[in-house]
Amino acid sequence: MQDLVQLAPPLSNGQVAPESGPLVDTLDRIHDNLRISVTDRCNIRCFYCMPEQGGEFTPVSKILTFGEIMRFLSVAISLGIRKVRLTGGEPLLRPALPDLITQISETPGLTDVALTTNAVLLARMAKPLYAAGLRRLNIHLDTLDRERFRQITRRDDLARVLTGIEAALDAGFRSIKLNAVAIRGVTEADVVPLARFARDRNIEIRYIEFMPLDAQHLWSRERVLLADEMIETLSAEFGPLKAVPDPDPRAPATEYDYADGRGRVGFIASVSRPFCLNCNRLRLTADGKLRYCLFAREETDLRALLASEASETELERAIRSTVWKKWAGHQINSPSFAAPNRPMYSIGG
Ligand code: 5AD
Ligand code: SF4
Repeated sequence: MQDLVQLAPPLSNGQVAPESGPLVDTLDRIHDNLRISVTDRCNIRCFYCMPEQGGEFTPVSKILTFGEIMRFLSVAISLGIRKVRLTGGEPLLRPALPDLITQISETPGLTDVALTTNAVLLARMAKPLYAAGLRRLNIHLDTLDRERFRQITRRDDLARVLTGIEAALDAGFRSIKLNAVAIRGVTEADVVPLARFARDRNIEIRYIEFMPLDAQHLWSRERVLLADEMIETLSAEFGPLKAVPDPDPRAPATEYDYADGRGRVGFIASVSRPFCLNCNRLRLTADGKLRYCLFAREETDLRALLASEASETELERAIRSTVWKKWAGHQINSPSFAAPNRPMYSIGG
């Protein structure tokens, strides 16, 4: 495990961000991966993210327009961004999302465009998304049990999610991943059924350790179901999982093949195996704040720049200096850890 406790954030070495070359921080991490949140609203209320009632949502007038997002993206691409993921809240709630996807997929310079969704609206959106050029989907699904789905999301929408997944397969999506948040005391019994569900459909599943990003501050270390425990559970059921040889060191998931070679499973073990020292990600929130980390306690407001006549050079400087301020890592494992001032739905997963 990387010892992040020893690394005091934020890093400040007195130098200023370089004015050319790739988007680097003071630890030489090159940033080529951008997550864009298109809305902070959601149609379900997973307890690990949203409050049960209420929540603070950005007024529509302060949400970046598609034009502003594309303006940001074109500068970001000129700085070396190659991969984009659209997130929320729930991105399918954003009106006319396929229009944005068409614009993004027609933009030269990107090697990868993906979307993370809860799939509640996917049954009717899968075809338009595919037609707009989208090929990669990540779908949250924490359980196949209707009652537990209701307990986790405070909504009775499991059937819609399952229909949405089938619709995506029917629409032609071949690159689908499932994201399952793993919570001790809640999802232990889901680990094996979800793995089987994914394997039967040729879908890769990734279990995500519960992170301290929930609006109600329910997170505690004891509530994290650890990757190693899930590896043990899955190995007992399907035969010993085998670590994938030559993994991509910058990918957050550690991946394993099933013993029989049919299918793959990943773990995003932010708590037990932090991967911050390989991080290549930047995040743009729906209200136009640029963040160098999910857990960052500072952010750069770009909305005014994007909405104004600000020059590309000004935007470029703002992006470069945000990356330059990036800290070593999130320090969840340190006693001094403090959760960010925005929960997951308002940052974008
Ligand atoms: N811990 C871990 N994962 C989370 N997600 C949302 N909140 C949390 C949390 N507190 C997941 C969602 C989605 C992805 C964007 O992040 O389930 O799959
Ligand atoms: Fe990157 Fe922050 Fe995630 Fe670590 S916690 S991997 S630094 S975004």
